[in-house]
Amino acid sequence: MADRYLAFANRPVGRFLTGRLGLPQPRPLLRHAEGQPAVIGPVLAGAAPGGRLAAAVVATLAGTPAAMLFEGDAADWPGLAARHGVMAARFLPGQSGRAGSAVFDATGIADPAGLDALYTFFHRVIREIAPDGRIVVLGAPPETCADADARVAQRALEGFTRSLGKEARRNIAVQLVRVAADADATALDSTLRFFLSRRSAYVSGQVVHVAAPVADLPEAAPRAHRGRRVLVTGAARGIGAAIAEAFAREGAKVVALDVPQAGADLLSLVQRLGGSRLALDITDPASDAAILEDAATHGGYDVVVHNAGVTRDRTIARMSRAEWDQTMRVNLLAPLRITEALLGAGALGPNGRIIGVSSIAGIAGNPGQTNYAATKAGVIGMVDALAPRLAARGATINAVAPGFIETRMTAAIPFAIREAGRRMNAMGQGGLPEDVAETILWLAEPRSAGVNGNIVRVCGQSLLGA
Ligand SMILES: NC(=O)c1ccc[n+]([C@@H]2O[C@H](COP(=O)([O-])OP(=O)(O)OC[C@H]3O[C@@H](n4cnc5c(N)ncnc54)[C@H](O)[C@@H]3O)[C@@H](O)[C@H]2O)c1
Repeated sequence: MADRYLAFANRPVGRFLTGRLGLPQPRPLLRHAEGQPAVIGPVLAGAAPGGRLAAAVVATLAGTPAAMLFEGDAADWPGLAARHGVMAARFLPGQSGRAGSAVFDATGIADPAGLDALYTFFHRVIREIAPDGRIVVLGAPPETCADADARVAQRALEGFTRSLGKEARRNIAVQLVRVAADADATALDSTLRFFLSRRSAYVSGQVVHVAAPVADLPEAAPRAHRGRRVLVTGAARGIGAAIAEAFAREGAKVVALDVPQAGADLLSLVQRLGGSRLALDITDPASDAAILEDAATHGGYDVVVHNAGVTRDRTIARMSRAEWDQTMRVNLLAPLRITEALLGAGALGPNGRIIGVSSIAGIAGNPGQTNYAATKAGVIGMVDALAPRLAARGATINAVAPGFIETRMTAAIPFAIREAGRRMNAMGQGGLPEDVAETILWLAEPRSAGVNGNIVRVCGQSLLGA
């Protein structure tokens, strides 16, 4: 459903009226389009003394056309840039022009006093980040810090980045990426690129963990998903159709699954994108055999996206057992059962990916959604429980947790609640199915092998459960 307020607020008369009345003035997000640079440049780099990731940042930029600006002398930015063949210049506020993105290596912050480095950098540069820009702070996992001081300081980064995301406005997205001590530049590369690109337009205020991958990573490739087999459930419409489209655009072979009643939509999707279809109801345990047969015929799946989902909203006192059961069966029991079947049959390829679709309702809770929120929190539990097992196979499992995304599911929400859902986030608007799809593409990349066990919200930094 079109966001009429967003369109109105961006017409001259709408801008005037909303400004005079003090109403929200969201601007349409700038999203990825074919042919655009991978990273929003120029990228402004800074570091706290003693950081370990400056070389990784420069190595990532070396693979992009983005120019680099640097601030401060805590890292040898000119030397690193020269070594990697990256154009770099010292940042001069008011003279350098605005930066497209900023990356700050905070891994060297070893005690609370060291947090001062955040103030020094961001106080100076925040106004110099262009609208629709990106900010990434790189930190260390607090639980692996050598002492209490370092742990406290690294934990503090989370409050800092989440607040910066809420106050930066202008559609600027801010993330904290915690990088394990043994994760090198190649482990970080896909994540840094995603968060510095337009692909992450509706992802903000997130904390992502990057570990050292258990196996060697494949070389970077312009079309990372080319030739990979991707199963997407609930693919006939909405977010699932966007996921299928995004993978097909990147050259993947998509297997689009949906209920037989959605057969016409499924057929037209597959005719448009290529790939194949499975008309199955995933709540039927017999669907496992059909999925396994499809996997076996084509040499397994590289990526499985458990996207199919339903809502049966009602307060617990009024909810029928059927409404409870159906939500459980589609959203939670089927993904668990299908994942077990695939793993048991060895049908997930090497460096395979399982991606769940949770929801911010599963994090924050929502009145009238006890059933739905239980299943979506259960998806998070599935990620937690299976991440070590998948890591042992060189594979990963992660989930996205969408906020308010413009689909038929949200179009069915009553007007007042729908409007509140759209505006109550740092971007002042709902996301699009493609925002969820882009996030899934990143998690599914062969080079995202160090990203395991994460729940990434795609919610414009919603105030719910933030
Ligand atoms: N739209 C949002 O704002 C939002 C927010 C958070 C999470 N999500 C989640 O994203 C996913 C997709 O949501 P959407 O908005 O695109 O929903 P949608 O209702 O538009 O699409 C869901 C798809 O799943 C399919 N499906 C349902 N039951 C199935 C079954 N038993 N077997 C096979 N397929 C089945 C449907 O036929 C449909 O094509 C869901 O898991 C949903 O819970 C959506």
